[in-house]
Amino acid sequence: EEISEGKVTWQSPSNIALVKYWGKRENQIPANPSVSFTLNYCKTTTSLSFQKKENPSNNFDFELFFEGEKKPSFRPKIEQFFRRIEAYLPFLKEYNFTIHTSNSFPHSSGIASSASGMSALALCLMSLEKELDPLMTEEFFTRKASFLARLGSGSACRSIEGELVVWGKHETEGSSDLFGVKYPSEVHQNFKDYQDVILLVDKGEKQVSSTVGHDLMNGHPFAEQRFEQAHENLAKLQDVFKSGNLLAFTELVESEALTLHAMMMSSRPYFLLMKPHTLAIINKVFRFRQKTGLHPCFTLDAGANVHLLFPKKEKEAVMSFIEEELVEHCQDGQYIKDEVGAGAKRI
Ligand code: PMV
Repeated sequence: EEISEGKVTWQSPSNIALVKYWGKRENQIPANPSVSFTLNYCKTTTSLSFQKKENPSNNFDFELFFEGEKKPSFRPKIEQFFRRIEAYLPFLKEYNFTIHTSNSFPHSSGIASSASGMSALALCLMSLEKELDPLMTEEFFTRKASFLARLGSGSACRSIEGELVVWGKHETEGSSDLFGVKYPSEVHQNFKDYQDVILLVDKGEKQVSSTVGHDLMNGHPFAEQRFEQAHENLAKLQDVFKSGNLLAFTELVESEALTLHAMMMSSRPYFLLMKPHTLAIINKVFRFRQKTGLHPCFTLDAGANVHLLFPKKEKEAVMSFIEEELVEHCQDGQYIKDEVGAGAKRI
């Protein structure tokens, strides 16, 4: 097909890893498998307008607007993304692109937008490819979108679908290092409506970029054991998803988060990303569980903010706990209420 111009818009969510991806090889191949909940409200909306160039050039030609404003500082990331995916989307240099992107969450919230942002852009480009190749199957579309998103930011490949996504070769059916797949096995009702309240402890810029972070695992003294442990934890989590054992879930997810930070703390150079308020929240969550027998558990990304995960049936009690005891540890008292979602949507 010959397509001279058009526009597509995708909304793609963020995700929160339960078993963490930390460490990668060439071409964004993860050093270990990971699994995440896809979120619902934290998302990026990206519109891509495209116009066939009259005189083909050897450049990637695009204009980029973030929340309505030109963003020169984002260009290098997009350039790099285009370079990495050009081999798989040969039409990239044949079009002029205008990209408009915005996030549902405040941009100084310390929430990384690379997963939602890169997956949204990958999906827009796939929609153009589908116009050029209308016979493309739905399955191919989804898989390739995840494949491309991975080349933008590893964890972005877990944002295309919901509700649980596995990325990285593992005994899990259909899993791959190249793209994320919907978790294929049985999931107990307990995990179908999980809530994620993101407690904004530190809304500043990330102190360690993912690139630097993953690099720290090269030559890390505990790297091999860690990668093995991630495999084991994913296998254990599969039993937990099936049985619905909330306590086992809590223990495993918290241990993954602390291990991620332990890896950073035992790297050279080291990164200590938890703040005093992060630790205060962790301690209070532990005591709350002991006292009430309920199951909120924390997890962390490479930063100080805390994701508090819990089943919907515990929402009322946990929200009161957050209001009464945790909000005081959040910067400007801010937190974001999210929950498990169904994946990206074309709008
Ligand atoms: O996708 P990246 O390269 O930004 O890496 C994300 C790594 C963690 O968020 C810390 C863990 C994960 O699996 O999402």
